[in-house]
Amino acid sequence: MEQTLVLIKPDGVLKKVAGRIISRFEDKGLKIEALKMVWIDEELAKSHYEEHIGKSFFQRLLSYITQAPLIAIVISGPEAIKVVRNLVGKTNPVKAEPGTIRGDLALDLESGNIVHASDSQESAAKEIDLFFSAEEIYSY
Ligand code: TYD
Ligand code: MG
Repeated sequence: MEQTLVLIKPDGVLKKVAGRIISRFEDKGLKIEALKMVWIDEELAKSHYEEHIGKSFFQRLLSYITQAPLIAIVISGPEAIKVVRNLVGKTNPVKAEPGTIRGDLALDLESGNIVHASDSQESAAKEIDLFFSAEEIYSY
């Protein structure tokens, strides 16, 4: 079993598609181990997106991710990191395949790609730790 962090980003919350996004993961058979709504500040946003500091889109990314609350979810299952990234689809919704979350529910990077999913075991561990304390995560 593997754990991964999913964020339903502020644009997903504002578009009122959070329930449909959660259903995609549940339909696949993945398990929700923790879930909460949080309005993150710049400090948490910078830690979460540390690897992108200095890139051309970084300031826009910070404003975008802090514009409204988001929903943070710890999801588990066999090879959950890869399985979830496959369900989420390509970073740019213009290129994301139909049938993926970004392919079906998002339009382009300008308007937002509605979900985040950890991309490696290392980033999953780091990101889960940023958003949740150990007591908030349930194994069942
Ligand atoms: P990245 O980690 O490359 O994508 P992913 O979310 O699929 O892991 O980038 C993080 C976020 O930064 C991405 O979801 C949207 C934003 N972004 C841009 O706005 N422009 C870009 O050119 C890239 C690469 C990312
Ligand atoms: Mg990434």
